[in-house]
Amino acid sequence: MSEFVTIEREGEIGLIGMDKPPVNAIGVALRTAIHEALSDLISDQKIKAIVLYGAGRFFSAGADIKDFARSAEQPTLPEVLKFINDCPKPVIAAMHGRALGGALELALSAHLRVGIAGLKVALPEVKLGLLPGAGGTQRLPRLAGMAAAIDIICTGREVSADEALRLGLVAKVVGGSSRDAGVAAARDVLAGKLAAIPTDDLLVETDDNAVSAAKARYANALTAPQTALDAISAATLPIDEGLAKERALFMALMQGEERAGLVHAFLAERETLKIPEAGSNIRSVERVGVVGGGTMGSGITAAFCLAGIPVSLIETDSQRVIKARETVEKYLAGALKRGKLTEQDHVKALENLVTSDELNDLANVDLVIEAIFEDMNAKTDLFAKLDKLCKPDAILSSNTSYLDINQIASATSRPAAVLGLHFFSPAHIMRLLEVVVTDNTSPDIVATAFDLARQLKKVPVRSGVCDGFIGNRILSRYRKVCEYLVLDGVEFDQVDRALTDFGFAMGPFAVSDLAGLDIGRAARERKAASRPPQERYSRVADLICEQGWFGRKTGKGYYLYSEGKLIGPNPDAQAIVYKERAALELVPKTFTDEEIVARYITAMIQEAVTVLEEGVALRPVDIDAVKLFGYGFPRHRGGPMHLADQIGVSELISRIETYAEEDAYFWQVPQLLRTMKNEGQSFAEMN
Ligand code: 3HC
Repeated sequence: MSEFVTIEREGEIGLIGMDKPPVNAIGVALRTAIHEALSDLISDQKIKAIVLYGAGRFFSAGADIKDFARSAEQPTLPEVLKFINDCPKPVIAAMHGRALGGALELALSAHLRVGIAGLKVALPEVKLGLLPGAGGTQRLPRLAGMAAAIDIICTGREVSADEALRLGLVAKVVGGSSRDAGVAAARDVLAGKLAAIPTDDLLVETDDNAVSAAKARYANALTAPQTALDAISAATLPIDEGLAKERALFMALMQGEERAGLVHAFLAERETLKIPEAGSNIRSVERVGVVGGGTMGSGITAAFCLAGIPVSLIETDSQRVIKARETVEKYLAGALKRGKLTEQDHVKALENLVTSDELNDLANVDLVIEAIFEDMNAKTDLFAKLDKLCKPDAILSSNTSYLDINQIASATSRPAAVLGLHFFSPAHIMRLLEVVVTDNTSPDIVATAFDLARQLKKVPVRSGVCDGFIGNRILSRYRKVCEYLVLDGVEFDQVDRALTDFGFAMGPFAVSDLAGLDIGRAARERKAASRPPQERYSRVADLICEQGWFGRKTGKGYYLYSEGKLIGPNPDAQAIVYKERAALELVPKTFTDEEIVARYITAMIQEAVTVLEEGVALRPVDIDAVKLFGYGFPRHRGGPMHLADQIGVSELISRIETYAEEDAYFWQVPQLLRTMKNEGQSFAEMN
């Protein structure tokens, strides 16, 4: 028998335990093992009922995402599940922890289901660009009705044990182990106390209202939820026809770019954890100190509060302390309202929050995060002070967005315990955390930061030191392309529209308005002295700032705002562009949306490749994670490096060479791209 299942016999009851750590993912090996185990128990005359359960933390996380290439190999999951449904002996699925995707479909094909308290079930396939492809779209409506099935499948949301009970997905929710609960349920079935019915024998009532409402709701959604809806609609057909339709739609989605992008994004979130320092000693972090209670410092403090980690927030005077505390409390109240925090945890978080204007209050913390203004002298002064007053083994970190952390570390006597922890605004919500490793940061400090990030539910990405680290360095490059496009003839809102149509939640000009145009101006002023004379420079943003228009907060920027709401492009800002074009004697050109996106994405990839070449990012997938979790890159496109593989290295080189005819300084082909072309290598292979 297979190493992936255990088979037991307890009187008349046969038990199949799925045992494939870490999450009982159902790939071809486990499918085969279940099929064989079931055949074995069916042919055993003494066995009258069969229980399926999962060993370990979960029932199962569903079909093996890393094994999708083999999903058509026999026995396929639909074949195994049909075999379960048609089994002549009652089959009981006993679920604990989580039953997701193909695992819930496995349970739906059983004749009875029981859940252990705390169970969560879901059909999250749409989040991977798929639909439930092993009967979920046919069997869920048979058990829970059309409307509930549409909601659960098209959103991919989690369903609690209580809701599953209410919907008839499980017959019982009990305590104890799933194995024992399964045995008890099987005994009840054999004693005639519980009914075990093949799901395929049930009929579905049509619900035209639910279907048409969902059609309207998902009309502009990605392909997967829309296709899922088509599959669910087929549930009113005879079961074999419905299953065949579902399978055909599933296999078509499996070939799609949307599926490839979403699966890449799912894996990227986990791949970034694989760092050279993994396995090093993790230090205990019992209390954290944050210095600076502005937007970033307050957000960072709230992030720790949300994770239940005690935190001390330091500001320079009592007024600022009050303001910072109010901000943190506002964030926590918001989290409570949104259900991200329980009442009890909210009370505890406030108890664990210390705010003070006394730096010495950080004497006993295990980690400090500096979040003061971006000035090297101020930072080195602060780090020198922290070095003296903090415990010898405390970790000192900076939330700087671009300053040289090697230099900051050199102000201390403990450079090995200094690193960058670069959060993204709003820090209690955004998932990205760049962990910036200096020349001297020791492996245990890096491993500790990654462990902490997991506790904060962040996506940590390891970055080397450079101006802007991975994310902002690449951003500064593709943001410039937007300025150039505007000078060359495109209106602000066309740039934004092209990129939102591509999938970004907001366009770059709307984002700048939101962040405040003064922020960008400060960054440009800081870099003015070091700006290479050959670099093309657009004065448009500076000219807009000169009018006192700083975006949303002033009611005017690239767009006009009324009561904080965007009401349309700002014609006066556009007039500044026309004037600037005239001054530079530029004849405006037209660009299609595709051309805008191509330049934007190519600039992003070009800089990302140099970031890779220099070793600032470990792997292409780390860059994808940065852009996905910190910069709103459309998840279904997988990230810039994933997209780069789809565009192809030759096409990228050809684009850069074409653009270079206009601006040979900005558009330069990185050597790595040429090497990749010569060697026929892809970014995926570098992961
Ligand atoms: N297949 C393969 N590997 C999986 C997996 C799956 N379905 N689910 C998780 N894993 C892997 C992770 O990649 C990770 O591997 P790594 O250690 O090599 O990086 C490991 O299992 C542990 O996963 P997490 O770190 O995510 O563990 P958590 O405890 O944080 O979360 C989870 C567990 C909630 C199960 C989460 O992993 C998850 O949401 N998994 C995806 C579930 C899903 O989408 N299932 C549907 C699959 S598609 C399907 O079933 C198609 C069907 O309709 C035919």
